[in-house]
Amino acid sequence: MRKPFVAGNWKMNRTVEQATLLVADMLPGLQTVSSVDRVLCPPFTSLMVVSGMLAGTEIGLGAQNMYWEEQGAYTGEVSPLMIKEFCQYVILGHSERRKYYGETDEGVNWKLKAAFAHNLIPIVCIGETLEENEDGRTADVVQRQVLKGLEGINKTNAEAMVVAYEPVWAIGTGRSASPEAANEIIGSIVRKNLAAIFGEDIAAKIRILYGGSVKSSNAKNFFVQSEIDGALVGGASLKAAEFVKISEAAVDN
Ligand code: 13P
Repeated sequence: MRKPFVAGNWKMNRTVEQATLLVADMLPGLQTVSSVDRVLCPPFTSLMVVSGMLAGTEIGLGAQNMYWEEQGAYTGEVSPLMIKEFCQYVILGHSERRKYYGETDEGVNWKLKAAFAHNLIPIVCIGETLEENEDGRTADVVQRQVLKGLEGINKTNAEAMVVAYEPVWAIGTGRSASPEAANEIIGSIVRKNLAAIFGEDIAAKIRILYGGSVKSSNAKNFFVQSEIDGALVGGASLKAAEFVKISEAAVDN
């Protein structure tokens, strides 16, 4: 019922020249996987060139962050209007932004509202840290991130958004969550809270991804889980063949 969704978060990797080569490398393979929504999220500096390369394909483009104001004296920030020139998607609230740049649930909420106001589809990231996990606080943390991050969002917008559950301890570590445990958290915490806010019908339509050390060798194990609708892929999205294989693994689960 929910169309599978695979996005590549390149993080702070690849120059324009390298991005061009990477996209050229993965494009033929990626284009064959049309039953999956595929999205590339390169750094800001490559958005223009990659959007040109993706023109005429069904592959989407996303930014990795944005500010909530449209313009003004905010040195170093990039606005929804600027993102919108090239992108259909924007990643918001990634744990690296929460950790290194002090992003809060409240800030994520403002960005989310700005994204919807500009017809950008947000990929909202949530997930607990290792310490929170070990302290048995996963459910509380994830619930808080959902309730505060999504406060005041209307149902129509909610239906279009994508949520990514990325346990922080699984990101870039090679230590992915167990697919069953991720499925349990996504079903009984994330989707349950979405249902509490937006109702069962809307919650059943929202795509929820898993992220954290996804690669071609483990992707299918996540995609066969009933509550997991795809993946937000970091490191493996920088390898053309890997990212194509992960997208292929999302077909027919
Ligand atoms: P890795 O796939 O490198 O663990 O990164 C996951 C992630 O943070 C995607 O947003």
